[in-house]
Amino acid sequence: MSRLIVVSNRVSAPKDPAAGSAGGLAMALSAALRTYDGLWFGWSGETIETFTGEAKIEDRAGVTVALVDLEPQDVDEYYNGYANKTLWPLFHHRLDLTAYERSYGEGYERVNQRFAEVLAPMLEPDDIIWVHDYHLIPMARDLRRLGVTNRIGFFLHTPWPVRQLLVTLPHHRRLVESLFAYDLIGFQTEEWLDLFRDYVISEARGELAGDNGLEAFGRKVCVGVYPIGIDVEDFMGARDSPAGLRTYDRMAASSAFRSMMVGVDRLDYSKGLEERMLGYEQFLHDNAELRGDVFLVQVTPISRDDVDTYQDIRARLDALAGRINGEYADMDWQPIRYLNRGYRRDQLAGIYRAARVGLVTPLRDGMNLVAKEYVAAQNPDDPGVLILSRFAGAAEQMGEALLVNPFSREELSDAIKTALTMPREERIRKWTALMKVVRDTDVAIWRDDFVQALRSIEVADDGDRPL
Ligand code: G6P
Repeated sequence: MSRLIVVSNRVSAPKDPAAGSAGGLAMALSAALRTYDGLWFGWSGETIETFTGEAKIEDRAGVTVALVDLEPQDVDEYYNGYANKTLWPLFHHRLDLTAYERSYGEGYERVNQRFAEVLAPMLEPDDIIWVHDYHLIPMARDLRRLGVTNRIGFFLHTPWPVRQLLVTLPHHRRLVESLFAYDLIGFQTEEWLDLFRDYVISEARGELAGDNGLEAFGRKVCVGVYPIGIDVEDFMGARDSPAGLRTYDRMAASSAFRSMMVGVDRLDYSKGLEERMLGYEQFLHDNAELRGDVFLVQVTPISRDDVDTYQDIRARLDALAGRINGEYADMDWQPIRYLNRGYRRDQLAGIYRAARVGLVTPLRDGMNLVAKEYVAAQNPDDPGVLILSRFAGAAEQMGEALLVNPFSREELSDAIKTALTMPREERIRKWTALMKVVRDTDVAIWRDDFVQALRSIEVADDGDRPL
């Protein structure tokens, strides 16, 4: 069987899977790489003064990883710059935070090319290559330029932006054209795929090609929707593990006679954390009689802290959490426990299970797996309620959640009240429907569907793709 080569900016194959700190996606890809005998290729997270053009090969619990060190200028222009100051805000519709610096674009092209040059000689003829996320859009084009004819697929974990915003990006056509060097492009939702199609047809004068193809720039590419999920069994195992149960007991004790709400998000402006806190503040203001009965645990590990827009949102959240606690807290109660740290998967599962309400309210999000983890962690006899932004990709499948518009603090406040007072039968009915979605979109299904689709694309012996 052919090997699977996974390529991503961040290589998250866990050194010790038993430690339980790696996320479900990392575990699922690691499992696939063990099955298909593959390789995980990407940035080491380290810098080196002068790029060597070589990858360091390591074994991580049976998974071979190939890691490339980058120069500090690369990290600045490619990762902090083009990936996180240009594409990330643009794809999340934050033009106000999007920086269009020529040097970022150059660094992005340079690093993609460097990755391609290091990876190409490591490939065998029937390997299939699966590239992940917005950091590496041009990677297939660069591999093709080096004569690589293997099947190459791309999966976008983030949303795709509307055409009217994408065209503000200098060289947007070049970026989209480079996607046509792939054989298969996967999106999280129909909505993101529709937006991609709209750009290709209206801006690039492309055409539909059959049920699942698009033709433009003289090339045809297959497109599809592959909603990502969690490893359900593994997550439930973490929930029921000694550490998961211990954390549950600890949280249940600390929320005796009170309802706990939980939010878990990287510290990112796309997650709607300010809006969430403002909605909660509105709730506290409007519902004086419920005030002392509820509190919010907001777990928010610091993220991308070298980027100024992340430092800004961090300072605003510090101020907001402080203000709300200062205004409303009492001697034996505090409305928000704001935690700038991460927890292990088993501990998170215990926290989710003890929470009566899960708050997942991003302003725009590719999918959002916290929504699925929160549901999977619940007690079937007495489940909590998921409040979910209609702008998360997960909302396309999880319509039984309390869907909200996170931009409206009043809507958020109302949803919190509805969730806290929802009768048990209704909670069970909603949870049962949501749990079915979580199971039906298990990460193994996502992975195997994508790999299967990529594997079955026709390629002639000389590497030619029939148009
Ligand atoms: C999002 C992106 C991922 C990225 C993750 C963490 O989920 O889609 O590609 O790895 O955020 O961000 P970081 O910049 O720390 O890798």
